[in-house]
Amino acid sequence: MSIQTDQIQKLVERRANARLGGGAKRIEAQHAKGKMTARERLALLLDEGSFEEYDMFVQHRCTHFGMDAQHTDGDGVVTGCGTIDGRLVYVFAQDFTVSGGSLSKTMSEKICKVMDMALRNGAPCIGLNDSGGARIQEGIDALAGYGEIFERNILSSGVIPQISMIMGPCAGGAVYSPALTDFTLMVKNSSYMFLTGPAVVKSVTGEVVDQEQLGGASVHASKSGVTHFAADSEEQAIATIKELLSFLPQNNLETAPFKETADPVGRVDDALNSVVPDNPNKAYDMYAVIQSIVDDGHFFEIHKDFAKNIIVGFAHMNGRSVGIVANQPKVLAGVLDINASRKAARFVRFCDAFNIPLVTLVDVPGFLCGTQQEYGAIITNGAKLLYAYGEATVPKVTVTLRKGYGGAHIVMSCKQLRGDINYAWPSAQIAVMGADGAVNVLYAKELKADPENAAAVFEAKKKEYEDLFSNPYQAAQKGYIDDVIEPRNTRFRVIRALEQLSGKRASVPAKKHDNLPL
Ligand code: HXC
Repeated sequence: MSIQTDQIQKLVERRANARLGGGAKRIEAQHAKGKMTARERLALLLDEGSFEEYDMFVQHRCTHFGMDAQHTDGDGVVTGCGTIDGRLVYVFAQDFTVSGGSLSKTMSEKICKVMDMALRNGAPCIGLNDSGGARIQEGIDALAGYGEIFERNILSSGVIPQISMIMGPCAGGAVYSPALTDFTLMVKNSSYMFLTGPAVVKSVTGEVVDQEQLGGASVHASKSGVTHFAADSEEQAIATIKELLSFLPQNNLETAPFKETADPVGRVDDALNSVVPDNPNKAYDMYAVIQSIVDDGHFFEIHKDFAKNIIVGFAHMNGRSVGIVANQPKVLAGVLDINASRKAARFVRFCDAFNIPLVTLVDVPGFLCGTQQEYGAIITNGAKLLYAYGEATVPKVTVTLRKGYGGAHIVMSCKQLRGDINYAWPSAQIAVMGADGAVNVLYAKELKADPENAAAVFEAKKKEYEDLFSNPYQAAQKGYIDDVIEPRNTRFRVIRALEQLSGKRASVPAKKHDNLPL
């Protein structure tokens, strides 16, 4: 055997050994928990044969607690780049088989290297998290490693899409990297996120709670909103992220890829002409409207289980990626509350940062009232959505289907917040408030003074108010609405509006950064 052949043989062996991570036994243990290994996950995520691994031979430098005798090539993370549907992405996948995927300083250096490359080369960065947190043996070095990662998350924000997949434990301060990224996904029953685990919670507060209840995927998808997606399996998780990427550009200087469609631009849907019930207090399903107007009826929803009174997600319209924001009359009458405002604001800001036009479908009775909302700062949280729409410079097309009442009408991408094209259906009611509420305020004294005739007076005044305000024409007469359109034509009108706006230029005054109400 020549020296060179021998060297190559050694390389092959060392690579094969590195690919085993923490070894066959720990891989088996990982599989026994129903989890894939870091490399198996990457193999499923990336196009076949596209993975280019970096730092496969990097080892930790810790000498405490016997760590100098425990070295694994690559340490506890697999890093590199590859393609998804032919588009470049940078990835890091924590390897639980090596010291429980716990973060050493060298691991953080590996992760930071791919984060830097993603930022420099304008490609999304996807992190697959499965880790016991800071490597205890490394002390402050491990904490410093997290700091380095967080800083890169912050600098990359708004420049490249950042995605976190939680596929195992993610606890302590480690949760803040996913929290800083644009989208987080958790896998049900095998991943959890919390600042302090059940044992610490019990000793500090006395509360008894298990991991799943404290920080499982379902809890974070529906209650806290920390995760945007809760997948049933790792396979489904990976498929979800691949689809998400298909709506996103590579970076903030590009636009999302075009998706061919056979769905005609001029397709009309007669069913939309009767989707809004005659009774203004009756609910209808906004999903039916969204599916009717987007290409091939396909809507990719974000934050599906959280604040269901507002719907956000991506779709294509005539092949172009759009962000849809829509009130959902079927849940809490589509009212804006704290969670709905936060959810939509974050989505609007993402779309604006990444050149994805916004299509807003409005049927909103107002902001939710009461002490719970006021004490929880609905004022500050509602202002987030107002702020997000007002600062967004991407094309903004809005359709008011039914209610557009009060401050909520203004918040939902109205003309005065630099809405570009604002349509209304004939069923729209754009007013300070609904007729019942208005008459009760304006005629409180009269109604009280003459109880016998109160019902008749109420009805007469209600009719007067409805004739004046319960329609879109007051707003249209003043140019606050650009046109009143037939519901069946909504797809065509929105697409045509978006095409007119494709060369839109708008900006905000120069500043160091804004100070949105956090
Ligand atoms: C070093 C760790 C580790 C850690 C796990 N391991 N966590 N090694 N540092 N943080 C090792 C274990 O010793 C074990 O090694 C292997 O990983 C697998 O762990 P197990 O405990 O056997 O696995 P499992 O039963 O599945 O439990 C997983 C776990 C548990 C729930 C994550 O390991 C655990 O509670 N770890 C500690 C979690 C933690 O408190 N981390 C610090 C959080 S604070 P062997 O050799 O036996 O295979 C933090 C601060 C971040 O992260 C601050 C950022 C600013």
